[in-house]
Amino acid sequence: MELYIFYNGYFYPQSAPLLSVLDRGLCFGDGLFELIRCIGGKFLLFDRHIQRMRKSAAFLEMPFPYRKDELLDYARKLVKVNGIKDGELYLEITRGEAPRYHEFPRDTKPNFFMVLNALRQMPENCREKGVKVITFPDIRWGYCHLKTINLLPNILAKEMAKKKGAYEALFIRGDEKGTYLTEGSSSSIFAIEGDVLITPEEDNILPGVTRAIVIEIAKQVNMKITERRLYMNEYKACDEAFLTSTVSEVLPVIRIDNKKIAKGIPGPKTEKLQSVYRSLMQSYLQ
Ligand code: PDD
Repeated sequence: MELYIFYNGYFYPQSAPLLSVLDRGLCFGDGLFELIRCIGGKFLLFDRHIQRMRKSAAFLEMPFPYRKDELLDYARKLVKVNGIKDGELYLEITRGEAPRYHEFPRDTKPNFFMVLNALRQMPENCREKGVKVITFPDIRWGYCHLKTINLLPNILAKEMAKKKGAYEALFIRGDEKGTYLTEGSSSSIFAIEGDVLITPEEDNILPGVTRAIVIEIAKQVNMKITERRLYMNEYKACDEAFLTSTVSEVLPVIRIDNKKIAKGIPGPKTEKLQSVYRSLMQSYLQ
């Protein structure tokens, strides 16, 4: 059965020819996206994702065409018409259609669409066994706090990870003190040293929705949290490491560039955060 998608206020079969070749998302990558988990027909942390999208749209001076409650209603309709209860909702907004001149067009309405897909397959038992990661140069720009649809660096990084048999690629940059990690190609990163949870500060990274929840949980279980630059030598020598994202949840990292992290198995503090996050997920559904 063909999927139905939401496009500018209406529902269409996925194959309907909707987007114009003049769309600025297509021509310039002038757009934003979000990815929201759908669990049992409800949406995980819907408000926070829409809030992030609205904030980024405001930053880019892109009018945001819907209220949160309207979008939630449309998203719930997608669940009904597609019969998908456990999935991932992809939302995209572009600046709309206009002749191809770089500057913002006047009086152009944004295009907004949502697609609900079944949840992707994760590698078998990865949440229990942990995953391998590689490093990849952070060749991205200075506005990584925006979830823009310009994802070529992320795509290249993820493809390299796949070629090397790893789950994720972690972006690295350098400063006078050495090489540091920023985030994954589609995830936020954490390391644990003793009882301290370290995660890169919100400096040119995406403010991950899952990251924020995990920081809240860590506080509740009395861990110390430090948001600061995370250097490669520390990461390689840390006791435990994990990554977070809407799709990955809390995922232990057991090897980086083929070097074991600690004993090369998921650590107890990571497992604790993972299980608390899992148990709280129901309470974050909307
Ligand atoms: N990616 N950092 C980057 C660069 C990301 O693309 C993502 C999410 C995250 C984690 O954010 P959150 O916890 O809000 O999902 C961090 C989505 C899932 C994607 O690209 O499909």
